Amino acid sequence: MAGTLRLALIGLGTVGSSVLAILNDVAGLDLRLGAVQVVAAAVRDLTKARNGPLPPLYEDALALACRPDIDVVVEVMGGVELPYQLLKAALKAGKHVITANKALLARHGEELFALARTQNRQLRYEAAVGGGIPLLQPIEQCLGANHIQAVTAIINGTTNYILTQMATRQIAYEEALAEAQSLGYAEADPRADVEGNDAQEKLTLLAALAFRTPLPDLAAVYREGITAVALPDVMNAQQLGFAIKLLAIATRTADGRLDLRVHPTLVPLDHPLSRVDGAYNAVLIQAEPVGSIMFYGPGAGGGPTASAVVSDIINILADAPTGAIPPASEAAPLHYLPITAVQTRFYIRLRALDQPGVIGHIGQIFGQHAVSLASIVQKNPRGAAAELVIITHDVPEARLRAALAELRASAVVQEFCTAIRVLPEGKR
Ligand SMILES: NC(=O)c1ccc[n+]([C@@H]2O[C@H](COP(=O)([O-])OP(=O)(O)OC[C@H]3O[C@@H](n4cnc5c(N)ncnc54)[C@H](OP(=O)(O)O)[C@@H]3O)[C@@H](O)[C@H]2O)c1
Repeated sequence: MAGTLRLALIGLGTVGSSVLAILNDVAGLDLRLGAVQVVAAAVRDLTKARNGPLPPLYEDALALACRPDIDVVVEVMGGVELPYQLLKAALKAGKHVITANKALLARHGEELFALARTQNRQLRYEAAVGGGIPLLQPIEQCLGANHIQAVTAIINGTTNYILTQMATRQIAYEEALAEAQSLGYAEADPRADVEGNDAQEKLTLLAALAFRTPLPDLAAVYREGITAVALPDVMNAQQLGFAIKLLAIATRTADGRLDLRVHPTLVPLDHPLSRVDGAYNAVLIQAEPVGSIMFYGPGAGGGPTASAVVSDIINILADAPTGAIPPASEAAPLHYLPITAVQTRFYIRLRALDQPGVIGHIGQIFGQHAVSLASIVQKNPRGAAAELVIITHDVPEARLRAALAELRASAVVQEFCTAIRVLPEGKR
């Protein structure tokens, strides 16, 4: 690309201010960045104190995004509806667009990608998954010669921070969450993170790139957050040789269906994902012929995320066509594997009467539903009840659910505590 690249920054918060800081001092960086001129930025509050040097600031983000003196619109504002209108208008006005906004793309990505294709403009979003980890362009470009079979990822730093603190300091979920909030890792309203929505949105983007399909429906991604994971589960998992992680898993089944899910998972301690701690992210890809590859690094934060946003700017400067929008994908409708058909091992914790014959009775209930048990251990007898920790062999989830429903209703079970999936052996 010759000449100056005139850029509008929509948002000057955590990410936008870090992008501006990089662009304000490009000495020693990619030489092409010298061509970037930040023409203006949009913010919500013009009176807020900000570190300079600053470009002219405006409140009307939509008007700024469509100005004729802008070549590239960088949306780092957040939300869904306004950025959706803004990216559409910018693409129609002939701008390239960059966004870090997974919530937007998971809902309106297909329409925006199609618009970018017809407008022959770039829509880049390297920062939308994995923060500072170079991920989307490497999957699309560097792994372009591969059939990707599975993506297994830790893509939410907040939940990984909480689970790590629970495991290493033996603190309860509520305490770890409060600490994450005080350190700025979790929002005041943490639901999007702890209930798995953020990871669900990111998984749709990863799956579309990995399997070269249109964006899967958000609703087709099974989602379970970490709010039901209690300290005893984390400690039991450790004793059994596992760490509990919120995993986002995308697999293409042998019959071509997509198995997409986000849920807490027991990960064997010798698996590389078990050692991804704190707010870090990691994405493990299994592909043919390359084998297993793991991307690892800071999944959020102003500096790391801005690093990914600026890499998108460099790609526009370099006229790089890949990593921009998923290439026109298979037209065939997507088929999904329902969670009830997924086959996996389970960890189960419950409190049952501490009496002769109870373990046999519970084993019988599992047996009636053809659920085979790998181990059953009695712990912490208290009063007339004791805790049972059970690990199953691989079982279709529908059968496990039927067995658990019967257990819940059984007179010998005093309290049903948790059922958490165990990572299948092949996922490494
Ligand atoms: N933070 C991260 O680590 C991270 C990582 C990956 C992706 N992302 C994504 O990056 C995006 C931005 O995140 P962030 O953490 O930087 O958010 P943020 O700190 O809340 O900053 C948002 C910025 O947008 C401005 N803004 C909000 N509404 C606006 C409106 N209606 N018109 C004009 N400006 C408006 C705000 O203005 P004021 O400054 O006046 O409030 C602020 O400058 C989100 O989509 C997020 O999901 C963030």
